[in-house]
Amino acid sequence: MNRTTYCGLVDESYLNQEVCLDGWVAKRRDLGKLIFVDLRDRKGIVQLVFSDKNSADALAIADQLRNEYVIEVKGTVVARSEKEVNPDINTGKIEIAVSEVKILNKSENPPFDIKDNITASEETKLKYRYLDLRRPEVQRGIILRSKITQAVHEYFNKNGFIDIETPNLTVSTPEGARDYLVPSRLYHGSFYALPQSPQLFKQLLMGSGFDRYYQIARCFRDEDLRGDRQPEFTQIDMETSFLNAEDIQDLTEGLIVKVMKDTLNIDINAPFKRITWQESMDRFGTDQPDVRFGMELKDLSDIVKDVNFKVFSGAIENGGKVKAIAVPGGADKYSRKDIDKYAEYVERFGAKGLAWMKVTDDGLTGPIAKFFDDQSVVDQMLAATEAKSGDLLLFAADRDKVVADTLGYLRCAIAKEQDMIPSDVFDFLWVVDWPLFDYDEGIDRWVPAHHPFTMPNEGDEHYLNDGEDPHKAHAQSYDIILNGLELGGGSIRIHTKELQLKMLKALGFTRESAQEQFGYFLDALDYGFPPHGGLAIGLDRFARLLAQTENIRDVIAFPKNSKATEPMTNAPAPVSKKQLDDLGLEAEDEPEA
Ligand code: AMO
Ligand code: AMP
Repeated sequence: MNRTTYCGLVDESYLNQEVCLDGWVAKRRDLGKLIFVDLRDRKGIVQLVFSDKNSADALAIADQLRNEYVIEVKGTVVARSEKEVNPDINTGKIEIAVSEVKILNKSENPPFDIKDNITASEETKLKYRYLDLRRPEVQRGIILRSKITQAVHEYFNKNGFIDIETPNLTVSTPEGARDYLVPSRLYHGSFYALPQSPQLFKQLLMGSGFDRYYQIARCFRDEDLRGDRQPEFTQIDMETSFLNAEDIQDLTEGLIVKVMKDTLNIDINAPFKRITWQESMDRFGTDQPDVRFGMELKDLSDIVKDVNFKVFSGAIENGGKVKAIAVPGGADKYSRKDIDKYAEYVERFGAKGLAWMKVTDDGLTGPIAKFFDDQSVVDQMLAATEAKSGDLLLFAADRDKVVADTLGYLRCAIAKEQDMIPSDVFDFLWVVDWPLFDYDEGIDRWVPAHHPFTMPNEGDEHYLNDGEDPHKAHAQSYDIILNGLELGGGSIRIHTKELQLKMLKALGFTRESAQEQFGYFLDALDYGFPPHGGLAIGLDRFARLLAQTENIRDVIAFPKNSKATEPMTNAPAPVSKKQLDDLGLEAEDEPEA
């Protein structure tokens, strides 16, 4: 026998034809006179019928069938009776009257049902990932991802880009995370680093004159994992010469428009909205704003600076700000206890409290309302926050970062809780005009807001000169945001050695340490390097957002879990003494769990 089509594709156009199908048994129902079997492949499910018209041999086989057996059948496509029609599936009007059946392989009873919406634990699903990958909802995500990469290849091909692979065994690349290292067998004590991104290689390719590069590139970063991060992930990576930031953004928009059309048949309008980093921080408290809903942050500092409420006036005296969000209808929806819970949560951002007031027909109420007895102050606050009767005002009074983190978080958490976010909207937006540097409070020093190869804004280069404050410089960089998540980022790069050295100096490199870490790249800048820039989109994040799932694991065939391990293969795993000896390494006796 030879398969004629997929199970899920047999519809009424096949009526009365003979078909041969291969697939997995999804369900078997024995009604005595009739045996029904649902047969599944990646296109869907079709119903098989065995009856007393079948041979004794065929009926004996039908009797043995269990879930996940792989079988091959031949049969005739017949119409289901009116009341048996299932309008929800493609094959719902027909069934297959089986004439021949063959078991190709048996199966153990699987550890979970192979169907959508199961409750098995994440760990079990990952341990049996090959079975999880049989489930239709998981297959949909993986197939969607494949459609994205096909569209990406087509787009770049059409636009004259060259697909070039860059090495995975390389030296450390500075994207701000910890490197994964691979010990060298030939040079004990030396290590390859897995690339955090192809950044410097793609820049070198511009130096080589390739002019338009792209790659669907695997990247490796040893960082704390969250729902939208994996230790190895994939970038849609591109770089171009002689184009400016707007040109690169246009090319990116073209790519996104095509991907959205080819995968979900959704028409997206370009050009996308653009807001500056400063505006994003001011209005949304974050550099990845979700603009699908309102509740924006409003600066009340000028209005409340003279009010006799120490929390507010004190914060302003210390150079901070007072900002608020107005939660529509929040006065009834949030009790004091609910607000206390949020107040406790936002302590992690450094917030020292969470002041609130409710807006009623009779004015403001709540424990701190007594400080706001000046009606003109109240009127100005209501006007600035656009709050109406029934709304809840939440205030943060602190230095800029704490205020932004606190209200930026609350805005999103409350919008989610109150179902204020339209789920079927894909809202793309550029955040532009970033600062060149960012202060990392964790390590207490200035770091690049993107990476050390980012070009300052035209006219801002002088900030990198000796005696000036480099941290005032803004950058020719841009992030693309989708529904409040950073999808990708890029920039125009520095292409002269002089400026690159100044940039590295501002980051604390000496000439020697810069030469040691990026010598090969700095040398390359001496040989006629063209102006260039590019961008990388996180493919896993993009696929997850298009598949509308919660975790990027859902769109990665064999992902790591949140502890960076892989329950199926048990990676990472100890290796033999011989392997360690070859590498000149010693392991601690007790490998850490
Ligand atoms: P960046 O570090 O912003 O830029 O990365 C680009 C995009 O890659 C995705 N991403 C990740 N996805 C999953 N797991 C991770 N651990 C992870 N880390 C990053 C994000 C992010 O927006 N070389 C520059 C790009 C450039 O300047 O051209 C870079 O790597 O979606
Ligand atoms: P207190 O005067 O400390 O009792 O605070 C009065 C109200 O202001 C309480 O609801 C606190 O949670 C809140 N609060 C205290 N500090 C801040 C702050 N920095 N920002 C916003 N609210 C605060």
